This record gives sequence, C-alpha cells and structure tokens, in this order.
Amino acid sequence: MLLGNATIHKNYNSQNLVDMWGDLIDWKKRREGENGFLIDQLRKHNVRRVFDAALGDGCDSIYLLQKGFDVTSNEIDKTFLAKALQNAKANNVQLKITSLDWRELDKELEIESFDAVIILGNSLTYLFTKETRLKALEQFRRILKKSGILIIDERNCQNILDNRDEILKGNFNYSGKYVYCGEKVHGRPIEISDDKVKFEYTDERTNKIAYLAMYPWKRDELKKLLQEAGFELIEQYSDYLPKENPDADFYQYVCVK
Ligand SMILES: C[S@@+](CC[C@H](N)C(=O)[O-])C[C@H]1O[C@@H](n2cnc3c(N)ncnc32)[C@H](O)[C@@H]1O
Repeated sequence: MLLGNATIHKNYNSQNLVDMWGDLIDWKKRREGENGFLIDQLRKHNVRRVFDAALGDGCDSIYLLQKGFDVTSNEIDKTFLAKALQNAKANNVQLKITSLDWRELDKELEIESFDAVIILGNSLTYLFTKETRLKALEQFRRILKKSGILIIDERNCQNILDNRDEILKGNFNYSGKYVYCGEKVHGRPIEISDDKVKFEYTDERTNKIAYLAMYPWKRDELKKLLQEAGFELIEQYSDYLPKENPDADFYQYVCVK
C-alpha cells in the first residue's frame, strides 16, 4: 500500500547491492545479535506506531509487523522498495509505504504522529553534509509524539579511521555479530578518508561485487548532532549493551523527545 502522493523516482543503490543485501545482513543473525533490544526498547516506551525511516529490504519492518506493531515503512529507492515488497509477500505481511526524502517528511507526515522512529543499518550516513543530516534528524523529531523515541545506530567509523592503513592493507577486523551479520557476503572498506568511506561487498559464492559509500561519523559526532536536533534524553548502547565501548562494532542511541 502506498500512502499519500508518493512517487518513487530515485534509484541510489545498485541492483547488485540490493540483491546481496539479505545475505549481507542475515535477517536471523541480526535478531540474534540484538538479543531482543529493538522490541524491548519499543515496549519499554509503550510504542504502538512506528516509522521505519529506512526500509531497505524490509528486515526490521517485517519483523515489527509480525510482532504486532503498526508500522509505516519509508523507502525512496525503487530497487530496495521492490525487494522489500517481494519479501513482505513471502512473509505474508502488508507494508504501509511512504517514499519520502528524510529531509522532507513534512510534505506528507503529520507532526507528532508516531510513537517511534527507527533508522537502522548506519543509514543516516547516506547524507554527506552536517546540514542535511541535522535536517533529517529534526524531521524525525517533528513526527514523534511527545515522549516518543528515535532509535538510530551508527557503525564505529572512528575505529575505521584510526586503523585506516591496516584496513587498506586487508586487515579489517569486524566481528560480524551485529547489524551486518552475513557469512557469505563480506564487506570491507576499500577507500577511507575523513569525509568518505567506501565499502566493497563481495558474494563469495558468485563473486558478485557491490559498493556503498558512507559518511564516517567521528567519535561522539552523532551524539552531539542528536542533541543539536533537540533530543535531550539520549541513551547510548555499544553493540546493544549500555554505555560507550570504544571497540564496539556499532553504537545504538535511544533518544526521547
Ligand atoms: C544502509 S540501507 C539500510 C536499510 C535497512 N534499514 C537495514 O538496516 O538493512 C539505507 C537505506 O536508506 C535509504 N535512504 C538513503 N538516503 C535517503 C534519504 N535521503 N531519504 C530517505 N531514505 C534514504 C536508502 O534507500 C536505503 O534503503
């Protein structure tokens, strides 16, 4: 179901990337890695209506629908959207879709209309300027009800920046236990600068290759930006455990409006 006047006109991600995505993240292992974190947070904050800002292939939206949440799923990339719709059908759930740029949610979405916004898989790093990332966070905050929560994650890119020489020599240490958990599709950074990290993903069975460039968050940068966007209460988790661990693979933030 497509909500509003959504027109899907953008195609940011290659077909190869989208085809590999399920094997890159491994839906089952993502859930094992988070060990109930997502559901526990949503329940703790009495969430019913969820806006999944970055649907991707549907991994999180489909899971939340199966758990009984009222989910609206946003995807502007038609290749990812097609994959998510196919996955929803295979899982016998119906997606409610919007197709909005994060910076323009107010074009269609009512102020204070969701109990939670989730943006997972290090997604905000698709935006390469501070101004655009802040705008997106302000838009997420706008659609949250009072006391609603934003759940956002980031890859520990500071570790990648700090170890760039070793990583570019081929020594990329990633546990593979969190968020991106696939065993047959491997990702590794092939270009690393302070402004951009480019990952290469390889399917070891087919040798298919895909690429994704992302903005590398520096230590505490996202936390400060969340504050700047107006979130006052921010809890940080490291690989789903409370507090900041400099060696974590991923950080999660639960931010209360
Ligand atoms: C890294 S994928 C993550 C997908 C999914 N959340 C996951 O964890 O597997 C990021 C998603 O964000 C979407 N996206 C990128 N830039 C966007 C923007 N400016 N507005 C809305 N969606 C965007 C992309 O199309 C892509 O599906």
